[in-house]
Amino acid sequence: MPEKRDILYEGKAKIVYLTDDPDKLILHFKDTATAFDGVKRAELKGKGALNNTISSLIFEILHKKGIKTHFIEKLSNNEMLVWRAERFPVEVVVRNIAAGSVVKRLGFKEGEVFRKPLVELFYKNDELHDPLVCEEHVELMNLAPIEFLHQMKETALKVNDVLREFFSQQGIKLVDFKLEFGRLPDGSVGIVDEISPDSMRLWDAKTGEKLDKDRFRFDLGDLLEGYRKILKRIS
Ligand code: TMP
Ligand code: ASP
Repeated sequence: MPEKRDILYEGKAKIVYLTDDPDKLILHFKDTATAFDGVKRAELKGKGALNNTISSLIFEILHKKGIKTHFIEKLSNNEMLVWRAERFPVEVVVRNIAAGSVVKRLGFKEGEVFRKPLVELFYKNDELHDPLVCEEHVELMNLAPIEFLHQMKETALKVNDVLREFFSQQGIKLVDFKLEFGRLPDGSVGIVDEISPDSMRLWDAKTGEKLDKDRFRFDLGDLLEGYRKILKRIS
């Protein structure tokens, strides 16, 4: 069991701790919900544990499919052990159904099903509000090595296949999700951060009920109730 040391970094939803092993970190999932770059914020008791549990489950599923992530093990309700990674400031979003920013940006109708999954890249930069970028920007700005970027896109589409099928078996539609990547201690590229209802859109296949963070973003209902419904179905 690794020993927890100093805080390396505190974000909006997580605290990252160093451990006695320089290659390993502990992620502590907070009970804080934020949206719109932290403009909207609330403390929701139990949210951290739900996201840690759901994220751990998803990382285990991906591991079984041979997809590399930083996940090592779930340590407790709110904490997981991960490999330390050099994070690339790029968010890779995959969309199966139009929702969120793609509706505002390009005029798609919410709920429109895409002919094929759409991959989008965003520059992770709070001051600039995570703008949409293309491959050429990533190359010019050295956000990630270009051969890694190709791998990241490919992996994101594979994750989409795996998770879309997985959620569909539980009566849930995977609308879209965001992944982050980094260079792991062994030099390879893997998924980092979390994969939780904070970073995915999940709709009940029958009723269309939104079960993800959009409940909080747009006051659609109790956030925790949505997350609990997701966890109940997938575990
Ligand atoms: P978007 O429609 O707002 O661009 O979001 C696309 C997906 O990315 C959605 O599943 C929510 C997720 N997401 C994050 O994980 N972090 C963010 O900061 C934003 C804006 C979206
Ligand atoms: N993750 C961002 C925030 O916490 C934006 C969002 O998810 O809507 O502010």
